[in-house]
Amino acid sequence: MSIKVGVIGAGGMLQYHAAGFRQAGAEIVAVADAAPGAAAKAAEKWSIAQSYDSVDAMLAQCKELDAVSIIVPNKFHKPLAIQCLQAGKHVFSEKPPALNAAEVKEMIDAANQSGKKLMFNFNNRARPESQAMMKYINAGDCGRINSAQAKWIRRTGIPGFGGWFTTKELSGGGPLIDLLHMVDLAMYFMGYPEPAHVLGQTFHDFIEDKNFKGPWGIPDRVGGVTDVENAAHGFVSFKTGQVLSLQVSWAEMIKREEVSVVFQGTKAGGKVERLFGIDGLDDTAIDTCELYVQENGHSVNRSITTPVCEDMGRIFSAANFIEAIEGKSAPFNTPEQALRLMQVIDAIYASAQSGRPVSI
Ligand SMILES: NC(=O)c1ccc[n+]([C@@H]2O[C@H](COP(=O)([O-])OP(=O)(O)OC[C@H]3O[C@@H](n4cnc5c(N)ncnc54)[C@H](O)[C@@H]3O)[C@@H](O)[C@H]2O)c1
Repeated sequence: MSIKVGVIGAGGMLQYHAAGFRQAGAEIVAVADAAPGAAAKAAEKWSIAQSYDSVDAMLAQCKELDAVSIIVPNKFHKPLAIQCLQAGKHVFSEKPPALNAAEVKEMIDAANQSGKKLMFNFNNRARPESQAMMKYINAGDCGRINSAQAKWIRRTGIPGFGGWFTTKELSGGGPLIDLLHMVDLAMYFMGYPEPAHVLGQTFHDFIEDKNFKGPWGIPDRVGGVTDVENAAHGFVSFKTGQVLSLQVSWAEMIKREEVSVVFQGTKAGGKVERLFGIDGLDDTAIDTCELYVQENGHSVNRSITTPVCEDMGRIFSAANFIEAIEGKSAPFNTPEQALRLMQVIDAIYASAQSGRPVSI
């Protein structure tokens, strides 16, 4: 019997969730979206049998659903995940897991009570470069990773002004929470250690400056709220003694958009990187996976060739959710990791506000 999935949210990410679920043999039975007519339109486009203008209606009428994926603005991840877990569904939620760590804790409690899977779309872990790197790390080839640098930096990447992305109450924050992928990937490579101390700073200089608008995003809202950062910098130390520095931005005067994790291990260093083309779009990007070692008195740089994956692992990540439910694959992420990640993000915001280091 194939897993039956309902999708909540008919936006741009639906195409990747749908492709991944179907690739893993699941059936997408229904789609729900709060905007009247949006679900019906998406259902027709993506060949989904049933559509609903409310999640309540989907859960009430579509009893056969085994699992739900949540692809809506960040504020609604927690309430919808808890509602679906309580209705007995496995849940795959878009990133960020929620607005903050306290919310993730509530989601974990609901998952534990229901006995259903709770997973998040940290799709950058599912990229071929990340999976290849993880094989070297798991084989012990890198030794212990002492230190890492995580970056997702954009020059002109504010995803619309005044909509949910720039409204803290709806998004939880700006690029630090939106582009959390590389911080997650660095912690994944490091073995997801427990954070100890965090020092962070956020900057808001360009969040209302239309010169920094991205090539994509949601429409601007006149009179809407823009109370999030346009850039964040931080330093995290872990209880293991490992350290991580991070730089995340929608708007900073850098040469070009860069998405990378670089690390230094006791046996090898490494880098997983996506460099975007000048238009900032996925189809012009260059992906890299490299290892740096000392061999026979020489510095040796290894370039690991991986399949081209324009979608940044989004399809494979959704497929992994289905395979994890079926017990065919280990899940790419756990709720406890999501909690640690959100603790780091909360602490960077708290440190930026107080001007002091924060202990977790
Ligand atoms: N993993 C990735 O690479 C990636 C990329 C883009 C966006 N995202 C995430 O996906 C989520 C959605 O982002 P988006 O850009 O598609 O947003 P969006 O503004 O396009 O919204 C998606 C849809 O959600 C619907 N919606 C809003 N609130 C709802 C509710 N309470 N119940 C049901 N439907 C509701 C909207 O009507 C809209 O059609 C965000 O959490 C974002 O961070 C992830």
